[in-house]
Amino acid sequence: MTTVSTDTPTVLVFDFGAQYAQLIARRIREANVYSEIVSHKLTAQQVQEIGPAGIILSGGPKSVRVEGAPIIDPNIYDLGIPILGICYGAQLIAKQLGGTVSQFDAGEYGRTNMVVAEGQLLEGQPEEQSVWMSHFDCVTTVPDNFTVSASTEHAPVAAFESEGIFGVQYHPEVSHTPHGQHTLERWLDLSRIKRSWNMTNVIEEQVAKIKDQVGSGRAICGLSGGVDSAVAAALVHKAIGSQLTCVFVDTGLMRKDEGEQVIETFKRSQGIELIHVRAADEFFSKLEGITEPEAKRKVIGELFIRLFEKASGGIEEAKFLVQGTLYPDIIESGSEHAATIKSHHNVGGLPDDMEFELVEPLRSLFKDEVRSVGKELGLPEEIVHRQPFPGPGLGVRIIGEVTPDKVAVLQEADFIVRDELEKAGLDREIWQSFAVLPDIRSVGVMGDERTYGYPCIIRAVTSEDAMTADWARIPYDVLEAMSSRIINEVAGINRVAYDITSKPPGTIEWE
Ligand code: XMP
Repeated sequence: MTTVSTDTPTVLVFDFGAQYAQLIARRIREANVYSEIVSHKLTAQQVQEIGPAGIILSGGPKSVRVEGAPIIDPNIYDLGIPILGICYGAQLIAKQLGGTVSQFDAGEYGRTNMVVAEGQLLEGQPEEQSVWMSHFDCVTTVPDNFTVSASTEHAPVAAFESEGIFGVQYHPEVSHTPHGQHTLERWLDLSRIKRSWNMTNVIEEQVAKIKDQVGSGRAICGLSGGVDSAVAAALVHKAIGSQLTCVFVDTGLMRKDEGEQVIETFKRSQGIELIHVRAADEFFSKLEGITEPEAKRKVIGELFIRLFEKASGGIEEAKFLVQGTLYPDIIESGSEHAATIKSHHNVGGLPDDMEFELVEPLRSLFKDEVRSVGKELGLPEEIVHRQPFPGPGLGVRIIGEVTPDKVAVLQEADFIVRDELEKAGLDREIWQSFAVLPDIRSVGVMGDERTYGYPCIIRAVTSEDAMTADWARIPYDVLEAMSSRIINEVAGINRVAYDITSKPPGTIEWE
């Protein structure tokens, strides 16, 4: 059910549909305790089998006062496991243990002033502090043996506690609550939960697990050039060494120098056995005359799979397939069962009928944790901090037909975008930044000559998760440096535009 081994102290976050459930787990992990999100429907017996060190009840959109509102198995309160309720979770504790929850006054949304009274959880914190609220109902009387430890103008019970069970009406997990992280850490300490989880433990634990799973078998891993498959491969290599073979299908559609960097990192520096399938010509010939975006994706995806199968078929007795599936891929799949193959992985996604047993050493980690593991395994910065990149690569950043010449032009322009952002120290703030080559030409003048060339469109966005995005406010002088370098250095481009569309209504990629 959970992805964790039982000897790691774990905090389970019971999910009531909170917008912030993932964030709670991340904050607990930042406090060096492993945390996972689980369904609020777990029974006391299931909880006992998992044996968590603590339980957090998340917020949620429902009212505990309505018929059929989600609850937890009341026997969980008797297990003696430390509990913290947040927002809806706090109200649920109050309701299930005999307090009252009412629609009191006006509700509170956003930054709110809170006055701390007494109690252990908020001990040592400023008597008056700002907290982030988002509630309509609130606890009006606490259950027997509980004390009120803080209140606000519109919430008589903003925090309450008894031996081992705590509730806070506000959101300690969001950055708008300045003492929030401190509160979560205090709860962990009061609950005597050992704060020792870190990336070194993760590596050790996963190495042992991989050795156990693979034994003396052979494993293969498709490298896409992205962070996830790179870190997964490095981790598996640490565990089973030469029993791992990586396959890198070079589509010719990667960003400038990135294909070479994959070879350099894995084959030369890490000494990983690597099959390099040089397939640019095949991809270009299949893409000839194809202009429709989804048709391009299909062609690229299918050829990729065929080449991967051909290459991996030659690896004797490979029984295990290494995948860079991450924790959000699992939670977002909406069930306890991981998506068997990550569709954004390895171009089009590998087909379900491949008869491999999956090795997924990153399935309990968030992206930033994967980057830390990669760093600790000695992968270079350029790979560890690589931006998300679409599987079909530059194929969907060239509008219209994809040709080797256009790829070469785009790679140069795209490199300048990256280079200037890095020089300006803006690369880490930006989610994705790249150049797009549209299928139009315009007139210009260079020296005394008339030109008729392609424009290039710069796209740079900020985002948390690619679901929504905003165009990055790149300073004019950085844009100017990009523009003049692209026009001077990249033959064929005579005009530069900057895309100022957010997502929605735009998408991040142009195709
Ligand atoms: P859009 O363009 O839909 O992109 O806003 C959201 C995120 O997904 C990436 N993307 C892809 N990744 N195969 C992939 O592996 C694809 O076909 C694909 N299309 C878009 C995009 O780069 C962004 O991070």
